[in-house]
Amino acid sequence: MKKHIVLLPGDGIGPEVTKAAKQVLEAIAGRYQHTFTFESHDIGGAAVDQHGTPLPEDTVEACNKADAVFLGAVGGPKWDQLPGHLRPEKGLLGIRKQLGLFANLRPVQAFQQLLHASPLKSEVVAGSDLLIVRELTGGLYFGEPRERRDNGQSVVDTLAYQRSEIERIVEKAFQSAQVRRKHLTSVDKANVLESSRMWREVVEEKKQAYPDVEVEHMLVDAAAMKLVTNPSSFDVIVTENMFGDILSDEASVLTGSLGMLPSASVREDGVGLFEPVHGSAPDIAGQNKANPLASILSVAMMLKHSFGMQEEADTVEAAVHEVLHAGFHTADLDITQGIEVGGSQMAAKVIEQ
Ligand code: NAI
Ligand code: MG
Repeated sequence: MKKHIVLLPGDGIGPEVTKAAKQVLEAIAGRYQHTFTFESHDIGGAAVDQHGTPLPEDTVEACNKADAVFLGAVGGPKWDQLPGHLRPEKGLLGIRKQLGLFANLRPVQAFQQLLHASPLKSEVVAGSDLLIVRELTGGLYFGEPRERRDNGQSVVDTLAYQRSEIERIVEKAFQSAQVRRKHLTSVDKANVLESSRMWREVVEEKKQAYPDVEVEHMLVDAAAMKLVTNPSSFDVIVTENMFGDILSDEASVLTGSLGMLPSASVREDGVGLFEPVHGSAPDIAGQNKANPLASILSVAMMLKHSFGMQEEADTVEAAVHEVLHAGFHTADLDITQGIEVGGSQMAAKVIEQ
C-alpha cells in the first residue's frame, strides 16, 4: 500500500520522538512492502519562529492532503510570554479543528513489566486496560465568549456544545466499546452543568442502538477518584473535552510515565492525527532522555485506524512488549530492575524486534 504521512515535529522533545516514529514506520514499510512517503512541516513554537504564526497555511494544506499526520509536541518557556493567538498550543488546537478531528482516543494500558513504575500499588494497577474517548473540538476550550471584562475585574469562558457534536463522539465511543469489553462509562457533571445533562440524554438515546454495550453514568469527581482506586473496573470512558484532558493525564500514572501514552485524533473517514499524550518536556529536550514509546505506540494506532493495517499495528505493539519484557526502559520509568537506555537506543531496540 502507498501512504503519504505528514510529520509535524514541533518543539522540545517533539523532533526526537518524531524521528523514532518515522524510523518505526520505515521499518514497517520495509518489512511489509508498503511505500510510505514523508513530508515535514512546522507547527507550534518552531512555526512562530520561522513564519510568525503557530499554524502556517502550508502546514494545514499539507495535512489536508495527507493519509495521516504524526505530531511530536508543541510549546515551551521560550514562547510562554507571547499573546494568546501566537501561543504554540494554538497550532495544535487549530490543526485538530481544521482537520475536523473530533474524537481523541487515548488508550491506557498497565504493562505487566512496568507495574512497579507506577506510584500506585501494583495490585491496584494490575490488569488495567482502558480507553478514554475525549471530545476534542468543542466544549470549554473553544466556546465563545472567552474574555477579561470590567477592566480585568471579571472573566468568562464558555462551555458550549451542539447536540450533533455530542452525538458523534458518543457513537464513536459505543463503537469502540463494541470491539473491546463492551462496557461504557459516560463521565459528566450532570448535577451542576446543563451541558452535562444534555450529554446524559444523548448517551441514553444512543444506547438503544448498542444493546450489547453496558452503560454507566459517572460524575467526573467520582471518576477521578475511581481511576486511581479501581482503574481496572473501566473499559471505555467517554467525556467532554476538558474532563477528558484532565482524566487522561491522571490515568497516565497507571503506566508509570507520560512517556508511555499514545493518542489518536480521528474523524469519521479514518483520517487522523497521531501524537504522544505528553508535551514538549523542555526539561529533558536535546538530552536523548525522551521515551519514544508513546510515539511508537501512536504509530501503531495510525497503522490500525488510518491505514487498516491490523497486522502491522500488532507487530509494533508486540515489539514494544518484547523490549520491555527484555528489561529495557528509559529514565522516566522509575524502576530499579532492568537496563536503562537513552531514547534513541530504545527506539532502535523496538525496530530490531
Ligand atoms: P510535559 O508532558 O512536557 O512534561 C511533564 C513531565 O513529564 C516532565 O518532567 C517531562 O520531562 C516528562 N516527560 C514528558 N514526556 C516524556 C517522555 N516522552 N519521556 C520522558 N519524560 C517525559 O508537560 P509540561 O511540562 O506540563 O509542559 C511542557 C510544555 O509542553 C508546555 O509548553 C506545554 O504547554 C506543552 N504541552 C504540549 C502538549 C502537546 O503538544 N500535545 C501537551 C502538554 C503540554
Ligand atoms: Mg493535557
